[in-house]
Amino acid sequence: MIEQESKKERAILVFLLEDRKPKEAEDGLIELSELAKTAGAEIVSHVTQRALPDTKTFIGSGKAQEVALIAEELDADIIIFNEDLTPSQQANLEKIIKRRIVDRTTLILDIFAQRAKTKEGKIQVEMAQLTHALSRLKGKGVMLSRLGGGIGTRGPGETKLEVERRGIGKRIARLKDELERIERVRKTQKKQRVKRGLYRIALVGYTNAGKSTLLNVLTDSNVLVEDKLFATLDPTSRRLRLLSGEVATISDTVGFIRGLPHHLVAAFKSTLEEVVEADLLLHVIDGSNPAFEQQIIAVEKILKDLKAFGLRIIPVFNKIDLLENEALLKLRSAYADAAFLSAKSGVGLSELLEMVIGEIEEGLRERVSDPS
Ligand code: GTP
Repeated sequence: MIEQESKKERAILVFLLEDRKPKEAEDGLIELSELAKTAGAEIVSHVTQRALPDTKTFIGSGKAQEVALIAEELDADIIIFNEDLTPSQQANLEKIIKRRIVDRTTLILDIFAQRAKTKEGKIQVEMAQLTHALSRLKGKGVMLSRLGGGIGTRGPGETKLEVERRGIGKRIARLKDELERIERVRKTQKKQRVKRGLYRIALVGYTNAGKSTLLNVLTDSNVLVEDKLFATLDPTSRRLRLLSGEVATISDTVGFIRGLPHHLVAAFKSTLEEVVEADLLLHVIDGSNPAFEQQIIAVEKILKDLKAFGLRIIPVFNKIDLLENEALLKLRSAYADAAFLSAKSGVGLSELLEMVIGEIEEGLRERVSDPS
């Protein structure tokens, strides 16, 4: 596939330290810079601020002046904040820094916009973007129209975001109708799938854990795999035929991230329904990531928000090819019920399949004894 290479936007990251421990702050900054790179930015510098947020400019006007100077010196195009800003904070910052200001929600939505694949996913992204934009529009829509192209101004697919307040309202209403129509069709299809007794497996996990790679090797399919965050946004379902003859559907889901804003979880609810309606979750964990424990906690928190608790879950430690023997042994003894594999090399795949078959057989037996 040939992709048009557009010029990368030069970004400065702004990170609020608050009372984060040094290691936590470092991890947070790395995560923000990975997200920014995924959105297509080139990071030219970062600025940290310890003080509590200032109501007018969030980081304080002195700090904002400092960022303005650095932006001038390094010829930056955008300033990316790790937190969400109020519309007036954003406007005040743009006045001082004279660069486009992108907050965390806008950044995440921009990534989603670039990654959405199904029609439903694209509509969800555009609606969430428009709702976020509408909440920060002044007058008739001057803010967005001033922005031009780039991170935070792109819609999903070929679409450009609306800039006029009236246009936005109408567009949201149209998208809502369209989404409802698609959801109705999807629900009917799902009912038929359930009737046929298909067993549903969903892959969940922190972004970049290797879900798409695992889905590929498990089903020999061709889901987009990249060493970038959010390689998969929409649930991409595949059929998995097991040696024992059972057929299961297996779906990839959006990569979770730490601090996925609450309103975004709600916005992507129907995309994430795949998770809630599954019979079995494979929680893919990047065992080679030093922050894997925090990532497990982040994923479990989102599962709890989705009320996906109580589902059968197999923890799957991936990327064991990157682990020393000793580290692997330690992991194995700490997580006795988990699967350990390398989706890349194929090591451990058959053990996972055995575990999955065991779960399916048990799950189907339970369905027979409790058909409700
Ligand atoms: P999102 O869709 O962003 O949530 O990511 P994902 O969880 O689907 O991850 P993906 O499969 O795109 O893999 C992310 C990166 O990890 C890619 O560069 C893969 O090649 C790499 N990767 C996946 N599995 C393994 C593995 O077992 N070992 C190694 N060394 N790398 C792996």
